[in-house]
Order: sequence, then structure tokens, then C-alpha cells
Amino acid sequence: MQILTTVNELRAWSRAQRCGVNGEGIALVPTLGALHAGHASLIRAAAEARPGRVAVSIFVNPTQFGPEEDYARYPRTFKADCALAEREGATIIFAPSVEEMYPVGSSTFVEVEGLSERLDGQSRPGHFRGVATVVAKLMIAAEADLAFFGQKDAAQVAVLRRMVSDLRLGTTIVVCPIVREADGLALSSRNAYLTPVERKQALVLNRAIRRVEALVADGERSSSSLIDAARGVFTEAPDVRVDYIELVDWQTLWPVLTAAPGTLFAVAAWVGTTRLIDNTRLR
Ligand code: PAJ
Repeated sequence: MQILTTVNELRAWSRAQRCGVNGEGIALVPTLGALHAGHASLIRAAAEARPGRVAVSIFVNPTQFGPEEDYARYPRTFKADCALAEREGATIIFAPSVEEMYPVGSSTFVEVEGLSERLDGQSRPGHFRGVATVVAKLMIAAEADLAFFGQKDAAQVAVLRRMVSDLRLGTTIVVCPIVREADGLALSSRNAYLTPVERKQALVLNRAIRRVEALVADGERSSSSLIDAARGVFTEAPDVRVDYIELVDWQTLWPVLTAAPGTLFAVAAWVGTTRLIDNTRLR
């Protein structure tokens, strides 16, 4: 497995992989690193779709972190990441420097208006502008045919789908299911920040989601009743501070009054100083 660090290397590699003039290209798996089984599932899916043509990017993207956020202390585990990526079927790792992705004087950004201010965008201003910008740069540099993302970041998926469609990037987005610990906690690189006590408290996010799924299975459709029920679950964990509990259309991220098949139920909460998210698409 090769490690590439420049955009020119990535583009040259991608072009060399193309089968025929209009044939299949490469699969891209963008990550911030600190890889876990959630990332592994994306790499495996990419390797199944484009065997031998999988690029995994590892780049802690500064523009998607707010000034008070964890950019400086974000876990960086490059060696272990390379081993995991290779094991799961990555062909190359793209690990650029900040200067490579944002050359001195960079002043071009991708702003997906509206969508970027909903859900996580509300409490993390500028976050989705940073995400959209770096993912556009990666898709363009890699001339990616497919790009793999996790349902874990449902709002990110909605923003990126809109961006790819608006900019006619020609990359097909593939979304993979949320990978969880045995007790239900969604895997996240940020789980590493949790103390043992917080790790237990963090389960409340998944409990709220399962409660809402159970109510929907019993026929409840009212958004306010479902959100109230989820709030009730969070009162069992008084040390956890809710950021949002929302029932929204999965594409527009606009709140809905009534749950329907496919509606997105999403929560975000602070467990100590760690912000966690989780969600489900209702049946
Ligand atoms: P990161 O948090 O490293 O996540 C990389 C990809 O892994 C995302 O698509 C995310 O949804 C997916 N992922 C994370 N946890 C998962 C889980 N438990 N189950 C399934 N998939 C999971 O998301 C980012 O990085 C960045 O914003 C990025 C897209 C790389 C742009 O910088």
C-alpha cells in the first residue's frame, strides 16, 4: 500500500487506474484518521465496489473545526490507521499536509447554503463549509468515481449530496450503515475522550433513539410526542446536556410534523466536554 502526500500524485494515480475512456474510476473514503470499525466498514465496502482502486484519505481538516473545538487534540494515530486501512482493502493512503490542501493564500470555499445551518451546523457554525470544501477538493483531486460516507453523520451526507449535485462533480455518494459497540454506542473517534463514567452516560443517546423507534413501531407518528419521549429518556442522564433532538426530512433537514418512512431522527449531546451524535432513519 502506497502513501501519497500531494494532489498531483493522487490525480496521477487515479488516472492510471481508469478502465477505458469512460470506464470505472476509483473509490474514495475520506476520513480524519483515528480509524475504527466504522471507518473499516466504509473501506471494506469501497474495496468490494472497486477492488484494487481504493483511496483512503487521512487528513485532520482544520477548516471544519471551530476555534473552541478539538482540532489540536484530535487523536492522530497514523501508523495504526495505515495498518487498518491496508487490512480492509485500501490501495493507497492520501495523507496531505495542511499546506497541500490549503495552499498559502487559499480563498476559495464551498458553501452549501441552508443545509449547512441545520442540525450540527446550528451549533457548529462554519463546520459544514469546511467539510464541503475539503470533500470537494478531495473528490476533484482523486477524480473519484465513488465516495463512501457513514450514516453516522447524517447531516454531513445531506450537505455533501447537495454539493455533488449542485457542482455536478460526477462522484456517486455511497452511504454505509452506522457501526455500533455491542452495547449500542455508535463508534466515533471522539469516544476516546470519554472517561469510564461518561462512557456509560453516553449510552443515553442510543437509548433515546431506540425509544423513538419503538414508539414509531407502535404507531406513534407525532413529531412533538416522539421528541418529548426522547427528552424524557435524556432526563435519566442529568449530566448529559442535549444539543438537539430533531425529526427532519433526511434530504432537506427541515423539521417535519409527522414521522414517515425514511424520516431522520437525530440527536446530539454533550457528555462532559465531548459532543456526540447519533441518528436513525425511521421505518
Ligand atoms: P470522520 O469523522 O473521520 O469520519 C469519516 C467517515 O466515517 C464519515 O463518512 C463518517 O460518517 C464515517 N463514520 C464515522 N463513524 C462511523 C460509524 N460508527 N459507523 C459508520 N460510519 C462511520 O466525517 C469526517 O471524518 C470528516 O467530516 C470528513 C468527511 C473526512 C471531511 O473532513
